[in-house]
Amino acid sequence: MSKQGSHHATSAAAGTRGGFSSGLGVLAATLGSAVGLGNIWKFPSLTGANGGAGFLLIYLLSTLLIGLPLMIAEIAIGRQARANPISALRQLAPRGAPWWLIGAAGMAAAFLILSFYSEVVAWVFAYVAKAVAGRLLSSDPVQTQASFDALVRDPVQSLVWQWVVLGLIGGILLLGVTKGIEAVTKRLMPLLFLLLVLLCGYSLTLPGRAEALSFLFAPEWHRITPAVVLTAMGLAFFKLSIGMGTMMTYGSYFTPGQNIPATAVRVMLADLSVSLLAGMAIFPAVFSFGFAPSAGPSLVFITIPAVFAQMPGGQVLLAAFFILTAIAATGAMLSIMEVPVAILHERWGLTRPRATLLTLFVLMLPGAGCALSQSTLAHVRPGGRTLFDWADFVSSNLLMPAGGIAIALFVGWAWGERAFAAQLSNQGTLGNQGLARVLCLLLRWVTPVLILLVMLTGLGVFAG
Ligand code: PFF
Repeated sequence: MSKQGSHHATSAAAGTRGGFSSGLGVLAATLGSAVGLGNIWKFPSLTGANGGAGFLLIYLLSTLLIGLPLMIAEIAIGRQARANPISALRQLAPRGAPWWLIGAAGMAAAFLILSFYSEVVAWVFAYVAKAVAGRLLSSDPVQTQASFDALVRDPVQSLVWQWVVLGLIGGILLLGVTKGIEAVTKRLMPLLFLLLVLLCGYSLTLPGRAEALSFLFAPEWHRITPAVVLTAMGLAFFKLSIGMGTMMTYGSYFTPGQNIPATAVRVMLADLSVSLLAGMAIFPAVFSFGFAPSAGPSLVFITIPAVFAQMPGGQVLLAAFFILTAIAATGAMLSIMEVPVAILHERWGLTRPRATLLTLFVLMLPGAGCALSQSTLAHVRPGGRTLFDWADFVSSNLLMPAGGIAIALFVGWAWGERAFAAQLSNQGTLGNQGLARVLCLLLRWVTPVLILLVMLTGLGVFAG
């Protein structure tokens, strides 16, 4: 598209550009993007598979040193430009510099994440249906494992549930009821929190409690390898929805008066608490019922039904748990899909419904690759990973960190401290210039080097 054409498309869309309406709305939407399967599915299974406390510690460090500064940077870029990631970076970059490529890579990452994320949401939806129908609950771990295997090894169920999920998310975006879902999420997120607290309280009465707590909080240093560090950093990116333009897109919907650093800190803390609650709900049960903490992606799907089987009203709680998980995942999926939709709408001049339909259409092929990766395509394992695992690995451990490096360099070197500080301080009204200075130094010198080192060591570039 020519420069003039793109400018025209951007300004045409700008007139109809939506945004979050209040401080609470901003917080709910941003938290809605962060909280999702990452907390309830990815965090426990990765912590379990990578040795527990040591992994947790590195994840916390990555969140503080890398995740938080980048989240603040992305939101600031978005709010300054008030446009989708590609247009935003074109607008703020020095003339002709190709920083917009970060937005393009982000769009690719969004498709990759949606491909496997939608499949895990598909399992969650299938579990909701089965729980409501009175199935799944069993105190026999062999049985709960078998139920999960039966689902993921069935190509028809895997595909159909994925399409149900994609249809639903697309439908929500098509109807333009983002406000509706926002309102629903706002009410139901506290419920998810409550249920997790309840589950956690119960789980901590189980005999495996001591073993679980030492697994989660007493590091065994020898288990920390470069690959574990890379995975932990990847989780920090995935959790905070950064490195691929999602927070930039949401930042473009922020209200002018919103305190960006304070919002980012709140979202990070709330998100961490949900993950820790999920961990403390799941691991005591894992150790009590003799599951392996390293079970991987199936962990939540096999332990939770076994835990609820021990509790009064377990069947209802089981349905409630997966319904709330589905809701949390919906908020996150909407935010991932918003990246390609905003780009296609604003830059290509497609209407929002058309942009949504095109996104769903493009998603069908890679989505099916992930959905069938444990059945029809189980034998397709280049480099020993299934297609599902590849989509997960490449997005979290390569694309998002690489995007993070580029965003840090952009803010530190191209956009510059003055503009960044003005955005963070709401044009001087917040008096946080010192913070902007520190963040800018961090983004300029520390963040990119740190990410690069973790990536290269994690990928074994320095080995042998
Ligand atoms: N943060 C979400 C989660 O933890 O489930 C996943 C996610 C959302 C990743 C948005 C990336 C993204 F852009």
